[in-house]
Amino acid sequence: KRLIFIGPPGSGKGTQSPVVKDEYCLCHLSTGDMLRAAVASKTPLGVKAKEAMEKGELVSDDLVVGIIDEAMNKPKCQKGFILDGFPRTVTQAEKLDEMLKRRGTEIDKVLNFAIDDSVLEERITGRWIHPSSGRSYHTKFAPPKTPGVDDITGEPLIQRKDDNAEVLRSRLAAFHSQTEPVINYYAKKAVLTNIQAEKAPQEVTSEVKKALSS
Ligand code: AP5
Ligand code: ZN
Repeated sequence: KRLIFIGPPGSGKGTQSPVVKDEYCLCHLSTGDMLRAAVASKTPLGVKAKEAMEKGELVSDDLVVGIIDEAMNKPKCQKGFILDGFPRTVTQAEKLDEMLKRRGTEIDKVLNFAIDDSVLEERITGRWIHPSSGRSYHTKFAPPKTPGVDDITGEPLIQRKDDNAEVLRSRLAAFHSQTEPVINYYAKKAVLTNIQAEKAPQEVTSEVKKALSS
């Protein structure tokens, strides 16, 4: 399967991706996770992306398109993939179409994680992540077994630099102005399914699985 997860910050894309990835043996390509890894290791890509990410603005289309084009060639992505957080502009969606055409494939489904802006601040400010795996927790909704510690590796959890109320406002503005048109782009292609993302995590998982089995 070749899937796209679209939704605002905190809508649950990163939470649902591992479940779907394991069920269908897909690779999980999160441009956010890849960019954060590049920033942490100070690669040329990371140096270019850092400022926009910290302000909650989008990184340039060319940079993210390049990362995805390269990542799709990985052997583990040949059975299919979940694109989490990409495409986020209509230009990125058009570039993705070209990339897939070159490979003789196309997108099977686009899941739109629909949710009201008002619930996102609590989700974002309570999130803690394990940076090397991308696993995320929430102090209230998905607490780790030991506070501040990853359940699997025992390593410390951190908060993302952009996970505060102020930067969230810029991220939401970017979503509404630049990413919402991408939802319409896929609605026209009739590959879009809406997911009610404000439900509890397990209920969202059932909805996602149902959408993918049909
Ligand atoms: P990115 O990392 O993609 O951030 P985002 O889109 O803002 O999305 P989030 O990761 O915040 O949300 P999520 O939906 O994954 O939420 P999660 O499941 O973790 O991008 C970061 C930055 O990188 C961008 O701002 C931009 O600068 C740059 N970038 C990335 N891609 C780009 C692109 N294509 N083009 C240009 N720039 C790009 O859930 C959040 C919290 O809520 C967690 O704590 C979780 O435990 C909890 N939670 C999840 N589901 C539920 C539920 N159902 N009920 C209660 N709590 C829940
Ligand atoms: Zn995410």
